[in-house]
Amino acid sequence: MSSNKLVVIGQGYVGLPVAMRAVAAGWRVVGVEIDGGRTARLAAGRSYVEDISDGELEAALASGNYLPTADYGQADGFDVAVITVPTPLREGAPDLSYIVDAAQELAPLVRRGVTVILESTTYPGTTEELLAPLLAEGSGLKPGTEFHLGYSPERIDPGNPTWNLVNTPKVVSGMSSACRSAVTAFYDSLVERTVPVASTRTAELTKLLENTFRHVNIALVNELAMFAHELGVDVWEAIDAASTKPFGYLRFTPGPGVGGHCLPIDPSYLSWRVRRSLGRSFRFVELANDVNDHMPDHVVRRVAEMLNARHQPVAGSRVLLLGLAYKKNTGDARESPSIRIAGLLAELGADLRAADPHVDPARLPAGVRLVEANATELAVADLVVVLVDHDAFDRELVARHARLVLDTRRWLPGPHDIRRRGPAAGAFGGTFGATPSLPFDDAATADAPDVAAPDAAIHGGVDPAGAGPGMVGPGAVGSGMGDDSGADGVWVPAQARPREGAGLTVESL
Ligand SMILES: NC(=O)c1ccc[n+]([C@@H]2O[C@H](COP(=O)([O-])OP(=O)(O)OC[C@H]3O[C@@H](n4cnc5c(N)ncnc54)[C@H](O)[C@@H]3O)[C@@H](O)[C@H]2O)c1
Repeated sequence: MSSNKLVVIGQGYVGLPVAMRAVAAGWRVVGVEIDGGRTARLAAGRSYVEDISDGELEAALASGNYLPTADYGQADGFDVAVITVPTPLREGAPDLSYIVDAAQELAPLVRRGVTVILESTTYPGTTEELLAPLLAEGSGLKPGTEFHLGYSPERIDPGNPTWNLVNTPKVVSGMSSACRSAVTAFYDSLVERTVPVASTRTAELTKLLENTFRHVNIALVNELAMFAHELGVDVWEAIDAASTKPFGYLRFTPGPGVGGHCLPIDPSYLSWRVRRSLGRSFRFVELANDVNDHMPDHVVRRVAEMLNARHQPVAGSRVLLLGLAYKKNTGDARESPSIRIAGLLAELGADLRAADPHVDPARLPAGVRLVEANATELAVADLVVVLVDHDAFDRELVARHARLVLDTRRWLPGPHDIRRRGPAAGAFGGTFGATPSLPFDDAATADAPDVAAPDAAIHGGVDPAGAGPGMVGPGAVGSGMGDDSGADGVWVPAQARPREGAGLTVESL
């Protein structure tokens, strides 16, 4: 198989890693990409996808086995084609026009015995009802018998240091058992484990089930976070405690909303299909959309509340946003709740700054200035809002220089919603903002990816990091961790506390 020719249509977050992996596995790869800017960058060895380094791209180009191009003609003579084009929503309905365009371009190149695989996320039925007829019409060949056709959902998690294309099991399917065997054989050459399922519809549904599951669970903790705040309960402590249950619970954490290409979109593909085919509503998806879509409004409301409590209007207040990407350690700002929050705060007249070392400045909404999260910017901000907990941000610097923080990710350690009244307060050694070395427990925060993101990694059981400041591990369940500013060690919600005093104040969602 090593001399076979692969064409990957679309060289984005999904297609480029597939192309690079295939080159490494010995395939001759043509990466077809209609965006001229992207093909130029690829040809120059400059990657725009975090998980692919310039070095990896340069090595692929130098091997002579990778050709990025906008010319479909270069795909002629292919053995396997993988389609990884966008599948957005347009006015709430699936927009499959990119798949249609790609299929129409590819169809004349389809020969007897080749294999075509769709990887784009879409509703159950797309491969057989939309793609198969387009390829049949353009090629004059019958899918399922004269050439192989299948579907295999992508599970990449950009920026995830543990799970990558190779070690994440790949669900595979085909229109017939021969198709499934051909699709399985292709991915067996790229990944450690393939998981064959009975039909393309099952594979399509599998992807939507995975993303809908996350979407719904994130909505659950987001809604709970809003209620818990009003009830004066620390939802994060409850989540930490619940996470010590070794069975029957999966940890999800609240955040400022969901973003990226998957969660805000994919579940709606499923609900659209259910409504269209069955005439019924998928209520879980609609409810989750409603909750998650309104999280940016909730963040803005919390910003206004926190400033108001200090007799400051939002208009004219200097607000520093940390993180614009939709996800930790990536520059992907598609559908990012941070961008919405920035837009809403700009509309309210906030004097806005934003820091994000990964995001393209062109993504900034009007009225927002991109700055570095340095000591000066932190110190002059009336309010710092932690929206994305990129590793590049310095927690100690934030804790030392910021005065007022809304931490939507529970990134800063310790119970939130508390006043820290200067050097004598609290069991951060009474030192928050006053000593050179703070007792941050990096293992307890940075190494637990599910703590950090609204699209949290999933794991059950005891937090692997164990107990640390603001975290709960075995033997540390319960309140009163002793790191509160209250001398008795009993956590008291912010709403019950006096608002006077100097030092750093951190509040959660
Ligand atoms: N990004 C993720 O983390 C992720 C994860 C799993 C699944 N997916 C799914 O994979 C699909 C692709 O997502 P992505 O994030 O890679 O999108 P992307 O926008 O990063 O990349 C898609 C690329 O396809 C190109 N393209 C569009 N039409 C084309 C055509 N006719 N011919 C050639 N190139 C064309 C675009 O210019 C773009 O560069 C979507 O369906 C998405 O839902 C994405």
